[in-house]
Amino acid sequence: MIIDAIPGDKSISHRAIIIGSLTNGTTTFDGFLKSEDCLCTLEIFRQLGVEISMDSTTVTIHGKGVSELKKPKNQLHVGNSGTGIRLISGVLAGLPFDTEITGDASIQQRPMDRIIDPLTQMGAKITGNHGLPPLKIQGQTKLKNGWVYHMPVASAQVKSCILLSAITTGVGVSVHEPEPCRDHTERMLQLFGATLTTTNGVIELTDPSLTAPVERIQIPADISSALFFICLSLMTNQPATFKNIGLNPSRVGCLTVLKMMGADINIVPKKNSYEPMGDIQVGATHTLKNIEVPLSLIPNVIDELPILAILATACEGTMIVRGAQELRIKESDRIDGICRLVNALGGNIKEYEDGFDIMGPITSPQNIHFDAHYDHRLAMSGLIAAKAFGTTANIEGKDSISTSFPNFLALLDAS
Ligand code: S3P
Repeated sequence: MIIDAIPGDKSISHRAIIIGSLTNGTTTFDGFLKSEDCLCTLEIFRQLGVEISMDSTTVTIHGKGVSELKKPKNQLHVGNSGTGIRLISGVLAGLPFDTEITGDASIQQRPMDRIIDPLTQMGAKITGNHGLPPLKIQGQTKLKNGWVYHMPVASAQVKSCILLSAITTGVGVSVHEPEPCRDHTERMLQLFGATLTTTNGVIELTDPSLTAPVERIQIPADISSALFFICLSLMTNQPATFKNIGLNPSRVGCLTVLKMMGADINIVPKKNSYEPMGDIQVGATHTLKNIEVPLSLIPNVIDELPILAILATACEGTMIVRGAQELRIKESDRIDGICRLVNALGGNIKEYEDGFDIMGPITSPQNIHFDAHYDHRLAMSGLIAAKAFGTTANIEGKDSISTSFPNFLALLDAS
């Protein structure tokens, strides 16, 4: 089976809107993810005065540069998107007018001190509601030049927030990351002409000017979305090829885990200018065995752990996940959610503060009744589990799927 309908990468689609809007020039992005999260980011930049047109999944941004951004009339709203609020707050911190930004009920429970603290140290005036949104960001502040930030957690959202604040305020900055995390912001800033290097975990932005407009860019399909259907192929022993998937090294840890489990995965790389991409071929599978996920891979696979947990329920042995405490502060508490889902399916899971053990394989899969707490990845994991095990799924909060994967249900029906 050939699957070429995996939608565009969510992380890259957010950055496309943001960085395209900060550039002086017109950029067309093909393969934009038209999901609720990314559309909120797009609307925010329209509110900031940027002309953006959209035709299917092609988005054209008529950027006029940072100095032409306008004070929005209303509070900005990121919907359900943690990436949206953290990255855009960085942008706003460097602008010469006051703004306020918030999101839905889940966003209003997500910690923002991880960006408030560094931005404040950098000179921004940003206040939250006890560290939670809404965030009030005061304009007219000049951020420090050459500031060096040591991130306490490996977070691409925090790193990107700092880099983007440096872009809008026009200063240099260095960010030290404790472990590598996704580098889409760095790649796109470089593509648009910023001078930025990464050496041994230090990202150094020395010239924040985006001097090189780019006419047309392809956004690859989202590997995090593809993985739901890759796992379904593996669980149902159906070979499949997934076309034009993003293969950025900071995102392909899930494929490493699958290979360690014994999956037959082959990559056919394709040419793309700034983000690696290619086809992922899933072969006729051998029996998969659960593994201990290496600690060093955790930041790379953090979004994929819910669906990997479902795969683990079908495999021999124990999947061990530790060092994944960040899962507790995603769209929902995903460690709690994974445990509730595996239990609802009739599997065997033990919860830890920073992870879980899953003892497979499941002997009698159950019809699933599950509250996804409006968390798209938990809802999709539940639906894949039911499809793979031939049970039914009654999932509360599955509307959340439209935040990241609008055609998920159609693809699932066709599988
Ligand atoms: C994202 C970074 C990751 C990831 C999130 C998207 C991004 O979070 O979990 O879904 O686009 O920057 P961290 O900031 O914790 O790395």
